[in-house]
Amino acid sequence: MNSAGGFRLGILGSGTGSNFVAIADACASGVIPARVSVVISDVEGAGILDRARERGLPSRFIAPGKFRTKLDDVAEQAFVEALQQAEVDLVVLAGFMRILKGAFLRTFENRVVNIHPSLLPAFPGTASWKQAIDHGAKVTGCTVHFVDQGVDSGPIIAQQTVPVREDDSPESLHARIHAAEHALYPRCIAAIARGEVRIEGRRVRVKGAD
Ligand code: GRF
Repeated sequence: MNSAGGFRLGILGSGTGSNFVAIADACASGVIPARVSVVISDVEGAGILDRARERGLPSRFIAPGKFRTKLDDVAEQAFVEALQQAEVDLVVLAGFMRILKGAFLRTFENRVVNIHPSLLPAFPGTASWKQAIDHGAKVTGCTVHFVDQGVDSGPIIAQQTVPVREDDSPESLHARIHAAEHALYPRCIAAIARGEVRIEGRRVRVKGAD
């Protein structure tokens, strides 16, 4: 943890920011013993930046560079510097649509988490709720995991199941997964901030989870 001011979160997102809102509210109410010290988006005008501004939290857009699915080297360095300047203890991906590469992950080793809208390792990648319906899955859910160099492949911290109903559309299923995310992600971040989460290889031990 940084020396002054308690546990700090740096949030990266590309979209509407509903997970960010759940996390920021949980910080404000003390459910997560941490504060959001910066919100950064690779998308100019992203909803997540508006939500941060409404809450008076520091936020900024950083241009991602020429690639579609990752940051270029200059952008990656700018993200790293902004997060370091904000003295973040944990980098929280909340709908951040780019893959983070080695240099970023080495800088924040074991300190980057993500939420994914399926029960990993099932349905990694995009539109996982639609993948679940197309596959005929009866149960899906969401997963909070540490981020490694693969896609949605890092050590799993916690998962929440969500049933797939007969009459589900991709949209209705996605909405229920989203609601589950808003409960699961703050719980996991709170446990990390309290020092209750330990990585042992691929296994993640969460105090009090058994
Ligand atoms: C969530 O469904 C999350 O699982 C995925 O991106 C989405 C972000 O939604 N990684 P929001 O911007 O937090 O509303």
